[in-house]
Amino acid sequence: MDVTFSTISAIIKNRRSTKPVAMNGKKIPDDQINSLLELADWAPTHGFTEPWRFMVYATASDFSHKHAELYKQSTTIENFDQAVYNKLYDQGDKASHVIIALMKRGSLPKIPVIEEVEAVSCAVQNILLGATALNIASFWSTGGMALRPPMKEFLNLGDHDHVIGVLYLGYADAYPAGSRIIPLNEKIKWIR
Ligand SMILES: Cc1cc2nc3c(=O)[nH]c(=O)nc-3n(C[C@H](O)[C@H](O)[C@H](O)COP(=O)(O)O)c2cc1C
Repeated sequence: MDVTFSTISAIIKNRRSTKPVAMNGKKIPDDQINSLLELADWAPTHGFTEPWRFMVYATASDFSHKHAELYKQSTTIENFDQAVYNKLYDQGDKASHVIIALMKRGSLPKIPVIEEVEAVSCAVQNILLGATALNIASFWSTGGMALRPPMKEFLNLGDHDHVIGVLYLGYADAYPAGSRIIPLNEKIKWIR
């Protein structure tokens, strides 16, 4: 392998969540999206259940318009908030593609659901890191209707399948600064 630790370290540390509204509207070539999905396919998988599935919207706004409609259809008139609708509707306008990362529950009962979720999360991280290496901005969202039953129905998911994230991809002119709140040493306990 000719990749150095410093290269992968820089990619990992420079990955940032960039809100889709901060993207600049430039389109990502479809073949780069396919390259990212190929990275996703190399996530670790217990029992080779390979539970990751992806729905790719080649035009991000096609998804966000549908997302807003799903919100409208599943919200009572009293609870409907036009500002929420507008935010969901406009969310993809400056992004390029949307990848919806799904967990398809496998048929191996010895693999618990949490492990299937973990595997898909690794697949998502592969996409985000690959995107960073290609200077593609990304945003992992679970907001709006993403985790609600109408979205599952819209995506034709089985009862035990899950949406793991809605990934907005595009380009940005600037990236937000990264931050962590809890010091790393508070998250680690060495046993010697
Ligand atoms: C499972 C998951 C779901 C997320 N959903 C949202 C979301 O709905 N809205 C949002 O603003 N950020 C969401 N994020 C992104 C986090 O806000 C972001 O990772 C965090 O602010 C740290 O910033 P960084 O990714 O640039 O390091 C999500 C992240 C994860 C792991």
